[in-house]
This record gives sequence, C-alpha cells and structure tokens, in this order.
Amino acid sequence: MRVTGSDYKTIWLDQDGRGVRVIDQTLLPHRFETHALATMNDAARAIAQMIVRGAPLIGVTGAYGLAIAAGEDASDANIEAARAALMATRPTAVNLRWALDRVSALLLAAPVSERRALAYAEALRIAEEDVACCEAIGTHGAAVIADMAARSPGKPVNILTHCNAGWLCAVDWGTALAPVYKAARAGVALHVYVDETRPRNQGASLTAFELLNEGIPHTVIADNAGGHLMQHGLVDLVIVGSDRTTRAGDVCNKIGTYLKALAAHENGVPFYVALPGSTIDWRIGDGVREIPIEQRSPREVTHISGQASNGDIVEVRLTPRGSPALNFGFDVTPARFVSGLVTERGVCAASESGLARLYPEMRG
Ligand code: MRU
Repeated sequence: MRVTGSDYKTIWLDQDGRGVRVIDQTLLPHRFETHALATMNDAARAIAQMIVRGAPLIGVTGAYGLAIAAGEDASDANIEAARAALMATRPTAVNLRWALDRVSALLLAAPVSERRALAYAEALRIAEEDVACCEAIGTHGAAVIADMAARSPGKPVNILTHCNAGWLCAVDWGTALAPVYKAARAGVALHVYVDETRPRNQGASLTAFELLNEGIPHTVIADNAGGHLMQHGLVDLVIVGSDRTTRAGDVCNKIGTYLKALAAHENGVPFYVALPGSTIDWRIGDGVREIPIEQRSPREVTHISGQASNGDIVEVRLTPRGSPALNFGFDVTPARFVSGLVTERGVCAASESGLARLYPEMRG
C-alpha cells in the first residue's frame, strides 16, 4: 500500500539475505522509519515492543525470527529455544503460534544442513500467503460494502472500524480495511469512522495514517462516540479485525471491540469481522473463558505520547501520580453479536457450522 506515493509492504528481507526490515510502527504517524531485525532477539523485541503489531504481521515476524535463529544455529535446541522466546512475546494473537508451529515442525523434521534455507523459504511463503489471504478478504468484504451501497444509491457507505486492521497489521492490504480499499478502488463511495483506540491509539495513529495515504475519506472519533453515531443512523456497517477467532465464531480483538458490537447489536447495525484462516483457533470453543488476554503495562493508560510543536515525539502523563491503572489489551465479542465473518474463502455465519462450511478440512 502507499506511503507518500510509494508502495510498501510491512516486512521484507534485507539486502544481506539474512536480516529483515520492518516499518517502525511506534513512530507513526509522525515519522516513517524502517527498523532492521538482524537477530532472533531483535525479532522478539520488535513484537514485544510493538514495533510490529497486528495478528498477521506478528505471525510473519515470528516466522522470520525463527529463520534468523536457524541461520544463527540450526540445532534442535536452538530452534526450540527461539520458538519459546518468540512465543512468549505476545499471548493473544494466535497467528504467532500458528506460524511458529508451522516453521518449527518443518525444520525439526529436516536435516540440520537444510534448515536455514527451508526456514527462509517458509517464512517468505507465509508472508506471500498472507498477502493473498488479505487481498481475498478484501474482495469478499468489498461485496458486502457494495451491497450496502446499492441499498442507498448516491450516499456514501459509513463504516466504523476499531484499532488498526489495515495493511500495517498484516504484510499488505490488511484484514478489516482490505474490503474498504477494494471497494474504494471499485468506485464505491464510502467514508470511515476511525476509533482512536485507547490506550495505544492504533486507530488515531495507524488507521488514520493509512487512510490518509490511500486518499480514503475518514474521520477520527473518540472511542466513546461510536454508540452515539450508531443511535443517530450515522454508521451503516462496522468492520473490525480479529486476533483470535474460536471455532464457534467468538472473536477476540482489541479492547473496546465488544462495546462496539453491543452498540451495533442494539442499533441494528451490521457488525462484520474480517480475518484470515490463520487467526482461527480450532482448539478453542468458548472465547470468553479460553482465550488468554494480554495485560500490558499500566503506563500505556497513565501516559500518552504524541508530537510536540517542535516536532519531537514526547510522552506526557494523563493521570494523577499514585492512581493505579489496568490495561487489558483485548476483549472477546461472542459470536451472537457478529453478523458475519469475512475470510479469504468467503463470508460465513459466526458459528461452528459457518466456519466448518468454509474450512471443511478442519472439521473435528
Ligand atoms: O495490539 P495490536 O495493535 O497488535 O492489536 C491489533 C488488533 O487488535 C487488530 O485489530 C487485530 O490484529 C486484527 S488484524 C487481523
């Protein structure tokens, strides 16, 4: 996707053929800088510190982290240690486990001398598959948006999204925003309400940055405004991403998603979730009870960072010193509040039978 007119992906192999380069998402939207991941520890740090974030991109970065580790030392012990270190970085997005399992199973079954090459090839395959999946999600989701547009000719479709599920959360295209990009390119008139997404503000900083660069009409709103907009008929459709989806269609996404789903349900606004198959955790049925929810530093709640008038990126305190804060990163929206899941294989009901129809090979 585009950044000041040039096309980028979020992760690519460096010129030395060993390290990878990513966009440093902690500096956006104020500074666009790339960041080198030369060692497995660099990859683990980049995921933990959210230099890269978003479920699909975490998975791809994990896969490259294992490839770098295999290049450093391809023994079973080192691959297993690297897998454990990468796995420990973020607990909720299941793509990380999915990608690490996929690469490590391949490596551990291969002769040590072949592991390095196999690991880089598999990481690249995962990255390329992610682009294809997200583009297909875009095609299926754009049809949902076009349907909505056809119901009110001459009026833009107003879409609300939460967090960043655009190309920055994946390798390209994104999940929830891929349908927006595809529909806009097909000439469908639309406008996106962007939840700021406290505490880390992925909506205000990343989604707004993406939409601005793609020339998509959008408005950033305070997280608390969504319910009011829906009550007043200003939102036609909600589309969000997912960090982990259960086989029964419960969806775990950035904290605050559940409240938007409740407001959408109460106001009869369709609530869609866009996700690649790699975010489905087929082992889990009940998302509320079974998905591990990441708790992050309270500092992300007590402080906020932004650009000062001299251009520096600065952090300031919001809360009184001494007031404790709590910072759950994700929440779970039960399947009954989800109008449909938009996957790379098409749109289905958020239910065990809906997902089993699209992924028959995963039927238990
Ligand atoms: O904490 P983050 O920024 O990694 O959270 C990202 C999200 O919640 C996205 O909405 C999610 O990864 C969906 S994109 C498949």
